[in-house]
Amino acid sequence: MPQDTKDSTVVVRPARNIAGALRLPGDKSISHRYAMLAAIAEGTTRLENFSNGADCASTLGCLTALGVELKREENAVLIHGRGPKLQPPRMPLDCGNSGSTMRMLSGILAGQGFTSELMGDESLSRRPMARIMAPLEAMGAKIAAKDGGRPPLHITGQHLKAIDYTMPVASAQVKSALLFAGLFAEGETRVEEPVRTRDHGELALRAFGAEVTQYGNQGRIGGGQKLHAIEAEIPGDLSSAAFFLCAAALFPGSRMLISHLLMNPTRARLLDILILMGVGISVAELEDHHGELVGTVEVDGRDLRGATVAGADTAALIDEIPVLAVIAPYTSNGIEVHDARELRVKESDRIASIVTNLRAMGAEVEEHEDGLKIPGGQTLHGTEIDSFGDHRIAMAFAVAALRAEGETTIHRADAAVISCPGFYGALEALSQR
Ligand code: S3P
Repeated sequence: MPQDTKDSTVVVRPARNIAGALRLPGDKSISHRYAMLAAIAEGTTRLENFSNGADCASTLGCLTALGVELKREENAVLIHGRGPKLQPPRMPLDCGNSGSTMRMLSGILAGQGFTSELMGDESLSRRPMARIMAPLEAMGAKIAAKDGGRPPLHITGQHLKAIDYTMPVASAQVKSALLFAGLFAEGETRVEEPVRTRDHGELALRAFGAEVTQYGNQGRIGGGQKLHAIEAEIPGDLSSAAFFLCAAALFPGSRMLISHLLMNPTRARLLDILILMGVGISVAELEDHHGELVGTVEVDGRDLRGATVAGADTAALIDEIPVLAVIAPYTSNGIEVHDARELRVKESDRIASIVTNLRAMGAEVEEHEDGLKIPGGQTLHGTEIDSFGDHRIAMAFAVAALRAEGETTIHRADAAVISCPGFYGALEALSQR
């Protein structure tokens, strides 16, 4: 794909279909969690296929600033754990664009004997942090923030006490932050979520040797447990795979295979939805890696029907909604998304970003406070698209462009480096013309 790195535009030409095979860098959600837990474990952890995205680099940068020694090899990271005590940072911890870094690291910093400051870029500085502040303060940490809960955060860690907490918002980042804080608390911390979200935090804690129990939507962890280093190969990122899966789904006749891919059932709802929409999907070679399911997915493009996404499905699919939304106009009967208010507080207001860009491509779209309604059977045309600095918006519209009439120029396309550097090259290599 022609790429102008100076003002970071990418031009995407229409394709006939998608064909080929690929293997993706490690899952972002798992990479963050393994790195954080490795830092407070005893011994040296080796993580193969660690995410190559900028968000996970932010996590590694923060850990280094907290006195953690680490070494990056080609696609592996070696992390020398310090045990439960980190070192006071000399400077603010820069979380970049990464909400996961800021929220989950806060859980660990809440239990440290020092004060730290966490800051982020312009987008992260607008994102809500009250959702972690309230429960971590109830555990005893002192946290100051701007404007009723926006970064930067100043966290003064304490010896924490366990809480029994019911989360008002469905957020795996908050759940993980509280379970991580629970390691530093006296007693058993209980976290109940409104709907089941991704369980990588629970699985990662277990992989590092902690006992975590789950009853329905409740997770429990006892304080004072020691973690031990692991060797792991991180499964391919399923949320990055979503863009390639949806690209293949756009064309009857596409055939694509993704190997070593994360298949955790709390993350794989997109596959069920694509099957409901008529896409041929088969999964093989399933294996268990430290509790995480990994497999090979084969996609067979067929005529696409529409779908409705609501309730628990919306929470399970939250990062995949941008790409599902952009394939909606090309389905026979469209896609409706409900209960997705959280999309408004992601790296951009994703509902607004999707609506603006789809309309620019000539699509009819209904915008709702908590969702979207996009009719099917539409023809889109290539135009100028803005990523709004949001990686998932940039990549979603590169996918939409493959079936549009004419070329599409995506501005600020380099946002993709947050989770999937090399995305445009990989998509181009799979695009048949
Ligand atoms: C993530 C959880 C989700 C998701 C984010 C990664 C995680 O955020 O959007 O990209 O790794 O736990 P929320 O916890 O804010 O829903």
